[in-house]
Amino acid sequence: MDYFFHKDGSMFAEDVDLHEIAREVGTPFYVYSQSTLERHLRVFDDAMTGLDRLICFAVKANSNVAVLKLLAKQGAGADVVSGGELKRALKAGIPGERIVFSGVGKKPYEMDAALKVGIKQFNVESEPELEVLNARAIKLGKVAPVALRINPDVDAKTHEKISTGKAENKFGISWLKARDVYEKMKEMDGIAPVGVDVHIGSQLTDLEPFRLAFTKVIEMVKDLREAGHDITQIDLGGGLGIPYGDSAEAPPLPSVYGQMVQDVVKEMMAEVDLEFIFEPGRLIAGNAGIMVSEVIYVKEGDGRKFVILDAAMNDLARPAMYDAYHNIDPVNLSEEAEEELVDFVGPVCESGDTFAKGRLIQPLEAGDLVAIKSAGAYGAVMSNSYNTRALVPEVLVRGDQFSIIRHRIEVDELIGQDQIPNWV
Ligand code: LLP
Repeated sequence: MDYFFHKDGSMFAEDVDLHEIAREVGTPFYVYSQSTLERHLRVFDDAMTGLDRLICFAVKANSNVAVLKLLAKQGAGADVVSGGELKRALKAGIPGERIVFSGVGKKPYEMDAALKVGIKQFNVESEPELEVLNARAIKLGKVAPVALRINPDVDAKTHEKISTGKAENKFGISWLKARDVYEKMKEMDGIAPVGVDVHIGSQLTDLEPFRLAFTKVIEMVKDLREAGHDITQIDLGGGLGIPYGDSAEAPPLPSVYGQMVQDVVKEMMAEVDLEFIFEPGRLIAGNAGIMVSEVIYVKEGDGRKFVILDAAMNDLARPAMYDAYHNIDPVNLSEEAEEELVDFVGPVCESGDTFAKGRLIQPLEAGDLVAIKSAGAYGAVMSNSYNTRALVPEVLVRGDQFSIIRHRIEVDELIGQDQIPNWV
């Protein structure tokens, strides 16, 4: 459930008419609903009631510091994958003990920064990484709390570009090899093995791959404890899908996912003495944000009608990158108009700059606004300035107030970053 809806023929974000934001900010822009973000966090947290837990929002999904801060105030931690994301999380007031650090390519300076603030857990993805982390920790006089990210070799049955838990993917350490790597940690003075981690992919709509993966990692925890390791925490990653409004299989509700987690855990452990870490990203932010764009032209093609928007693939990359489906709704709803079939495209000079094909929608004309839904996760964070287009702004709504949380980075600001050497 979200807080974007039509009232008296116009679309609102909570109690703010989107036209009002468009007038002040211009288009295109992202807008997030604070109540929706908070609600999604609460729903996910409620689903895990009874487990000792820490919900580390996957910062890569939406890394605006205002978003991180409001989630942090509700108790969320952060899952970061770079020194940059670590800085954002800290700036949002998330303390080190609520931060986990994932990713296959952590550089020594990023490890140092995380060691200095005493993060909760490094999710280590390879032996070379473990060795560098050990050396950095010893140098700084610290001990790094480590979980190995296990690659359980399960098929997440999601888009191949966002599937991460198969043996052929670059992520994690083979679950067959992991026990040996934990043994090696016993010899490493800078490393404390405290947990086990898994994340098999994103936008999963089937619980079975999760169940298989979680069963394997809990088995691993039990084995490791038997081998004398003091494993106190388990990180089950993120990945639960959200409804995008297409006909694809609807993802399970967080409560159903939570029940599955609890069932697997209780089946396998007589006494559940573990802290659970989760890393949801899309589930929290995806349907808490939309992108609003203005129609520039309506163009009659050969047998098709193109609605040319002022937003493009550089503002929202998902349709071009993953053939992702996003609902597109008119901001001004006209009840009586008969719907027609259109393609929504952007102004960028690539055929891939297409948001949707063959959508039924009321007739639109230049100047109308549309809302591209479910854009709060992997939207603004993946935007860029291709075709020298300004970087899209972000707005946060709470009740009847709204605030710009990242201004539009204008073309002059972008061009000003280029430097011309004196020999040119
Ligand atoms: N933890 C780790 C280690 C991850 O790699 C990811 C996402 C998450 C958590 C959060 O997953 P979520 O709960 O959001 O599914 N740009 C793509 C999605 C890439 C996901 C990458 N990793 C998209 O737009 O669909």
